[in-house]
Amino acid sequence: MVFVLNGPNLNLLGTREPAIYGSDTLDDIAGRLEDRARDLGLEVDVRQSNHEGHLVDWLHEAQASEAAVVLLNAGAFTHTSIALYDAIKAIRTPVIEVHLSNPHTRETFRHRSYVGMAAKGTIAGFGADSYLLALEAAAKLAKV
Ligand code: DQA
Repeated sequence: MVFVLNGPNLNLLGTREPAIYGSDTLDDIAGRLEDRARDLGLEVDVRQSNHEGHLVDWLHEAQASEAAVVLLNAGAFTHTSIALYDAIKAIRTPVIEVHLSNPHTRETFRHRSYVGMAAKGTIAGFGADSYLLALEAAAKLAKV
């Protein structure tokens, strides 16, 4: 199982700043991930919350339920959340940081990533394809 955890404002994908984030909704992305996961012999569990603590709880759940990998787009919590940094450090489950945009080409407040400091690796800047590329990396980590 691969958990795909999405943070604040990502429920608005499709209409949220489409010039930056594209016009795919989170449901569209989930559908593409499910199709590719099936080909790879994996399952995905795609979730979204606007609340930091839910993301922390789900990271703990990923380990407890023996998920193989977590893909995490923590939205703006990426740049602020020591709680997410600690949660990623606290679990053995590998976490891949995902972003639709490339935060390093944007405002300076997006240049620091607490998620990236703890994650196995990062895929950013490829729009919705960032999630698909991260799933390929997850399949390699899960060795399926
Ligand atoms: C984002 C980048 C973050 O800086 C931003 O706060 C988001 C989306 C992305 O996927 O590009 O909410 O994580």
